[in-house]
Amino acid sequence: MSSSPYLPFINNFLDRKEFATHTKHFESRISERANPQRHGDLPKWQEFVNALPNATPSDIDLSADAIKIGVASDLSADEANQLHEALFALKPWRKGPYQVFDTFIDTEWRSDWKWQRVKPHISNLDGRKVLDVGCGTGYHCWRMLGDGADYVLGIDPSMRFVMQYNAIQKYLNDSRFDFAPIGIEDMPGDLAIFDSVFSMGVLYHRRNPINHILELRDLLTPGGELVLETLIIDSAEGGIFTPEDRYAQMRNVWSITTIEKTLELLESADFTEVRCVDQNTTSLDEQRQTDWMQFHSLKEFLDPRDISKTIEGHPAPKRGIFIANKKS
Ligand SMILES: C[S@@+](CC[C@H](N)C(=O)[O-])C[C@H]1O[C@@H](n2cnc3c(N)ncnc32)[C@H](O)[C@@H]1O
Repeated sequence: MSSSPYLPFINNFLDRKEFATHTKHFESRISERANPQRHGDLPKWQEFVNALPNATPSDIDLSADAIKIGVASDLSADEANQLHEALFALKPWRKGPYQVFDTFIDTEWRSDWKWQRVKPHISNLDGRKVLDVGCGTGYHCWRMLGDGADYVLGIDPSMRFVMQYNAIQKYLNDSRFDFAPIGIEDMPGDLAIFDSVFSMGVLYHRRNPINHILELRDLLTPGGELVLETLIIDSAEGGIFTPEDRYAQMRNVWSITTIEKTLELLESADFTEVRCVDQNTTSLDEQRQTDWMQFHSLKEFLDPRDISKTIEGHPAPKRGIFIANKKS
């Protein structure tokens, strides 16, 4: 595939046989999304990626809470400084953490905590082909490989995230994880090839939740497993809360569902064995400002007098994990 010069690590993506009949479709969606004219920052981000020193990690651990890429002694002092500076320039880093040689990327989110909540409930990933919708920097995709997945395709329309993925791939150089800079709506409608599909933190950003669930279903093989993680609310008229304005300062929140409504939506999409396996109120330790994400974070999005409410007066963020199977 002739990819954008800004996306060095998606070159191999469409050489895989699974995608052979959809090459043109993907090429056109990716080139639309990755158009440097639409993203003034792309050339700058590419320079930061190019400034990363060459190095080969002597040790890799994709099962570690902070994904481990190399050890301090793999780099000279100059290279270590160069690495730190280039990675730091790619901030804000939201999803992680990563330990890259001697640089610890202390991301806004402790994404490892979400993985700890998800992992006990999902099918063994050994040998599975996985799709992670809205994969962010790709943190959970690495963890899926660490837990035995055969291949992971991560998709996310954020170009900053794909550049952060490029920075990590420079050292891991692992063909088992591809990242396509596209949204779920860009996926072909006839690609039911994934054994597991994850949608974590995406449903509430979609205007029509049932459509999102149907799109996810259509990407699963018969009998495949959906892992849906989303914001939930204890009660709402009709089971769906749509904030009039912002929610926890986010502008793009359209549908926060109750547990019952989420289960109902999954059942109406013809999933079987539909269940809610976890609910959790996000703590100020899980999502917080760090040196690597210096903007406001959860603390500033909650009411300082009552952190059970958002600054807009809505219930504070609570998240549910749902698992369901596509009918065989
Ligand atoms: C709250 S983050 C969740 C990231 C990660 N899945 C996690 O659970 O930590 C939501 C992600 O969804 C991505 N996203 C937004 N709209 C999307 C769409 N239409 N298709 C796929 N991903 C989307 C965003 O860019 C963002 O990275």
